[in-house]
Amino acid sequence: EFHLAPKHVSFSFDGPFGHYDKQQLQRGFQVYKEVCAACHSLKFVAFRDLKDLGYNEAEIKAIAKSWPIKTPDVDPATGEATTRDPVPSDHFPKPFANNVAAAAANNNAIPPDLSLMTKARHHGTAYVYSLLTGFQNQPAELLRRFPDSKTPSGLHYNPYFANLNLAMAPPLTSDGQVTYGDDQPKPTIDQMAQDVSAFLTWTAEPKMENRKSAGVAVLFFLIIATGLAFMSYRQVWSGVK
Ligand code: HEM
Repeated sequence: EFHLAPKHVSFSFDGPFGHYDKQQLQRGFQVYKEVCAACHSLKFVAFRDLKDLGYNEAEIKAIAKSWPIKTPDVDPATGEATTRDPVPSDHFPKPFANNVAAAAANNNAIPPDLSLMTKARHHGTAYVYSLLTGFQNQPAELLRRFPDSKTPSGLHYNPYFANLNLAMAPPLTSDGQVTYGDDQPKPTIDQMAQDVSAFLTWTAEPKMENRKSAGVAVLFFLIIATGLAFMSYRQVWSGVK
């Protein structure tokens, strides 16, 4: 009973006629890039996919520059992996060299890849939003009834997380943590959380709009076809008394 269902939050892409708001996806990408990418990869997303968000080729190349790609070669002088410039077909690389390094940096938890996160959890978009805005102190009632449940040091209480205690510290901690363009909404924690949740919905389902418009077309066709079938039925049986 201490684990909560995701909050209600609405998005431009809700419902059968929903569309992504490209401005929002760009803001969400900015939050990912400036905050989440320090720990989380997006291994199923290629830089060139960002054209869906409205970036052109030059912008995509400039964006990709922030993510040097490791090559299989090792620099003989330092023993470190060498890197090359990314090309648009490269995918977003992992921020840590391997899982051991990732766990070592995060209190023994490996930050999961976020590409499909909104599909992997129930009500994924609302879940990610709720998780980001849901960090809080443990309820006194919980501690009173289950004194052993005190959040261990290094973990963070979040009632939207199934285990209640999460190895991720609140990533969005102050309004204005990311700077948006002047014509954009104010980057409050709530706004940034909505934007990055929208962005992660796009990474998990970039073709959502095609799926929805195909669904609407299919229903339209089926309604017409049902009408025609009914009229044929009347016609075929019209002579039978
Ligand atoms: C887990 C999102 C930033 C470290 C997660 C999960 C999500 C998420 C959805 C999975 C929760 C689940 O399994 O249900 C985000 C977003 C971020 C962000 C949207 C940016 C706004 C960060 C940063 C760090 C981090 C900056 C590291 C400093 C972790 C770790 C876990 C995790 C270690 C695993 C937690 C556990 O299993 O206990 N994050 N994250 N995250 N994140 Fe983040």
